[in-house]
Amino acid sequence: MARILITSALPYINGVKHLGNLVGSMLPADVYARYCRAAGHEVLFICATDEHGTPAELAAIEAGQTVAEYCAEQHDIQKTVGAGFSLSFDHFGRSSNPQNRKLTQHFCEVLEANGLIEERTSKQVYSVDDKRFLPDRYVEGTCPNCGYEKARGDQCDNCGTLLDPIQLITPYSSVSGSRNVEIRDTRHLYLLQTQMQDQVRAFVDARAANWPNLTTSIAYKWLDEGLIDRSITRDLSWGIPVTQNGKPRPGFEEKVFYVWFDAPIEYIGATVEWAEANGGKDWERWWRTDKGAHDVTYVEFMGKDNVAFHTVSFPVTILGSKEPWKLVDKLKAFNWLNWYGGKFSTSQKRGVFMDKALELLPGDYWRWYLMANAPESSDTAFTWESFKACVNSDLNDVLGNFVNRITKYAAARFDSKVPEGGAPGEHEAWMANELAIRLPALIGYYEAMEFRKAAAETRAIWAAGNEYITKAAPWTAYKTSVELAAVGIRTGLNLVALFGIIAQPILPETAKKILDAIGVPEDRRSLKPVNVGTGDYATLLSVLPVNMPINVPPQLFTKIEDAQVADWTARFGGG
Ligand code: 2FM
Ligand code: ZN
Repeated sequence: MARILITSALPYINGVKHLGNLVGSMLPADVYARYCRAAGHEVLFICATDEHGTPAELAAIEAGQTVAEYCAEQHDIQKTVGAGFSLSFDHFGRSSNPQNRKLTQHFCEVLEANGLIEERTSKQVYSVDDKRFLPDRYVEGTCPNCGYEKARGDQCDNCGTLLDPIQLITPYSSVSGSRNVEIRDTRHLYLLQTQMQDQVRAFVDARAANWPNLTTSIAYKWLDEGLIDRSITRDLSWGIPVTQNGKPRPGFEEKVFYVWFDAPIEYIGATVEWAEANGGKDWERWWRTDKGAHDVTYVEFMGKDNVAFHTVSFPVTILGSKEPWKLVDKLKAFNWLNWYGGKFSTSQKRGVFMDKALELLPGDYWRWYLMANAPESSDTAFTWESFKACVNSDLNDVLGNFVNRITKYAAARFDSKVPEGGAPGEHEAWMANELAIRLPALIGYYEAMEFRKAAAETRAIWAAGNEYITKAAPWTAYKTSVELAAVGIRTGLNLVALFGIIAQPILPETAKKILDAIGVPEDRRSLKPVNVGTGDYATLLSVLPVNMPINVPPQLFTKIEDAQVADWTARFGGG
């Protein structure tokens, strides 16, 4: 049994996330966590809302709330919506909690003690009318790169260029709209990343073989371009206060840490929250290599825009502390899920958001579609048509129909019990052979975190079951030999159990319905080879003992109709 720490990139607090956010971090992290648990490992799965920075403040202003009120409310909403998608976090924390504050201040102080922090004067946009500096998204203006007129201080949404607010042409305050702005000097703390260049490269080199291409190419791009010293404080009031020797840092009373400095530290902070919320569990055995975490495998999930922060910036914080913190081992990054020729976008409210998706269909439908089409090797496109085709074919025709047919037939002809039947024949041998090839492949894809392939293999196993039952045709056999029909139904019922077991990572609610109905005990649901077998017929038949009573599961899925697609297209766009 291994110990696996899994984190999903922390969703920003500024509103419910869209399906692109979901498929890029939280959902695959959950699927992997569920796989690892079902494979018998000890898993700790951590996420939290990322609550600082200008997006939070601006969203609160728009909502007419204080930032604290806004964040508390949105955290609860995101938590509820996440539960609607069966995201099985061991803890869903908040980066604004005291645990993260303490850790963030600690990291800054040890980094300074190690000579890696320097106070520097820099130039910032200051709004005379608002009487404040305008960091990051508080200022908008014309992009110096592409001429887009609503570029934000930290990034141009049109061309993607990362910006410094003072680069904007004709800047204005996004709080008041005032153009009465000037450039003023301000003091900030800089993390001397330039001094950590070699250590970070060595850290990346040591892991590159285990990381997918997408991850390593981004990490090396940043390293090859050369790290720059980065300011880790901002002129804002909402955030983590800057301290020195545990007291407010002189000259920094009106400043807080930059959101990207404290957000990744919240992976640790949320683990402390988890420990405290669970009767003082030991969080250090997950994070401190001197206190048990040396044998933890740490796996991070995120969209590609987050990779540099996790392969370079956060490691600078960790390595620069010279303290024995756990560093990431495996990093799974995702490309974009596109929405009809563009991107899903929170600021432009484009696409389907998690809360709205759940109003249309239950979480498992979306989980299946998103994982079967996960943007792993390239960007992928969400379309209503492909969603419909995937749900109707994979979930209804292939899985739902098989489960329904077999269990109903067992109920009608075999008194709702697992029949014994005679010896297996050529069809059973064919099925066993399929499983012998496909089950190890499936496990291999999960181990390698290749989610599209895992979904495709899961489907292929369901499809093989359908092919088997067509060949065995117990309903035809029944007319001449009940014994022969019984072999088919006994095999079929055990396949139903197996199909439920292998569906657990992606379709947790559906799998539970299946396994509960046919009475598979909790301790027989594991994805370990001893339980699912590697294709031998005896292991397949061992899940459901002869004469065990079974129930027909409730209807698992309904098909998506053309009229629904038309309605959703009209409501959400697309097409
Ligand atoms: O890009 C984002 O959505 C960020 N909120 C991710 C933060 S991940 C971590 F570092 F906290
Ligand atoms: Zn631009």
